[in-house]
Amino acid sequence: MSVTIGTPLQSTAFKVLLLGSGELGKEVVISLQRLGVEVHAADRYENAPAMQVAHYCHTLNMADPTALKTLIDTVQPQLIVPEIEAIATDVLIEIENNHIATVIPSAKAVSLTMNREGIRRLAAEELGLPTSQFRFADSLDRFRHACHEIGFPNFVKPVMSSSGKGQSFVKNADQIDAAWEYAMQTARINQGKVIIESKIDFDFEITLLTVRAKNPQTDILDTHFCSPIGHQQQDGDYIESWQPQAMSENALLKAKEIAEKVTTALGGCGIFGVELFVKGDDVWFSEVSPRPHDTGLVTLASQFQSEFELHARAILGLPVNTTQHSIAASAVVYAGVDGENLRYQNLEQALSHPDSDLRLFGKPEGFKTRRMGVVTARATNTDEARHIARDAAQKITVKA
Ligand SMILES: Nc1ncnc2c1ncn2[C@@H]1O[C@H](COP(=O)(O)OP(=O)(O)OP(=O)(O)O)[C@@H](O)[C@H]1O
Ligand SMILES: [Mg+2]
Repeated sequence: MSVTIGTPLQSTAFKVLLLGSGELGKEVVISLQRLGVEVHAADRYENAPAMQVAHYCHTLNMADPTALKTLIDTVQPQLIVPEIEAIATDVLIEIENNHIATVIPSAKAVSLTMNREGIRRLAAEELGLPTSQFRFADSLDRFRHACHEIGFPNFVKPVMSSSGKGQSFVKNADQIDAAWEYAMQTARINQGKVIIESKIDFDFEITLLTVRAKNPQTDILDTHFCSPIGHQQQDGDYIESWQPQAMSENALLKAKEIAEKVTTALGGCGIFGVELFVKGDDVWFSEVSPRPHDTGLVTLASQFQSEFELHARAILGLPVNTTQHSIAASAVVYAGVDGENLRYQNLEQALSHPDSDLRLFGKPEGFKTRRMGVVTARATNTDEARHIARDAAQKITVKA
C-alpha cells in the first residue's frame, strides 16, 4: 500500500504521537515536520525538548494506563512512536491488537526491550546469540548465589532501568550486598529484580544502527545497516561517539548477522540501536533500543540521512539511504551545574572550528550530569573528529 501524507492541522493530517520528548525525539519531530506530518509530543514534564518543535504537547505520566489510553483516544494518531522505555506497554499491545494505531516498531518490541529479562531471554535463549553469561535474581539470597555462580567481576543492573541507573560493577564478594541495595533503591520501576552479567573483556563497543524499511519495489521490509558507531561510556552514559569504528571484516559480518536476527525477531519498521561488544573477530550482543540511539547523534554530521531522518522515513513506509558521507564524531555537553533556566556561553569559541556543529536541547532544567547538548565534528579521521568535538564541548560554559 502506498503512503498518503495529508496536511497538518487539517482533517487530512497524518498524525504521529511521540511518547517521550527528549533530545532524540526532538530530532525525530524535526524530521517528521519536514515531511508534513502532524506531531503530538508527550512527556511527564512541560517544555521537554521535542515539545518545543511539535504541533501539540501533552503532559502526562505515560506509565499510567488510563492516562495513556485517554491520550491516544483524544489524539487518534496513525502512528505511536515510543521514545522512552517507561510506558504502559499493555496499552500499546491492546492498541495494536485492536488496529487502533500502529505502534513503532511493534508493541512486542517495545515491551520486550523495556525489560532486560525480556530482551536477554529472546536474544540468548530463543535466538542463540552470543551474550555475556547471565542470571536473574529477585531476592538478596538468590542474588548472592547468582553472583557466585557468575563469578567476579560482574555487572549488576535492575531489569527495568536505563542510562546506567542502579548499575554496579561488582569486583568481589564484599561488594554484593551494596550492589543489591543500590539496585533496589534506584530501579526505575522497582521490579525487585536484577540481571547479573559476566564482564565481557572487549576491545571496543559499537552501536550498529539497523533500519527495517519497506522496499518500494517489493513492499517487503528490508534490513539496512549504518556504518558501525564506536563510543565511550562513563557511569552508564555515553560521553562521545564516532563513525565509523574500524573493525575486522569478520566481526562486522557477525555484527550484522546478530543485528538482523534480533531486529527481525522484534519486528516492525524503523531504526534500532543494536549495542554490541567486539574483541578481534568475536562479537557479543549486549542490548537493543527499538528507536534512535543516543550514540547515533553523530549521524547528524556523518550521514545523508541521520538516524532521525531514517527513523521518520522508515516508519512512514518511505525508502531509506544509510550511506555515510563523512567521518565524524560527537561529544556530549553536560550541564555541570544544577538549576533551571540555564545559560550557554562561549559558543563563538566552541564553534570556531569550521567543521564543528552544535545542538542545544533546550531542557528547562539541568543537573550536573544531565545531557544538555551535543557537539558534532567532521574530519579526515575519527581521532581528529573526536578531538575537535571534545575540544568544542569543553569550551562551552553553562551558567545557572
Ligand atoms: N557484561 C558487560 N561486560 C562489559 N561491559 C559491560 C557489560 N554490561 C555493561 N557494560 C558496560 O556498561 C555500559 C552500559 O551498560 P548497558 O548498556 O547494559 O546499560 P544501560 O543502562 O542500558 O545504558 P544505556 O541506557 O546508556 O545504553 C555498556 O555500554 C558497557 O560499556
Ligand atoms: Mg546500553
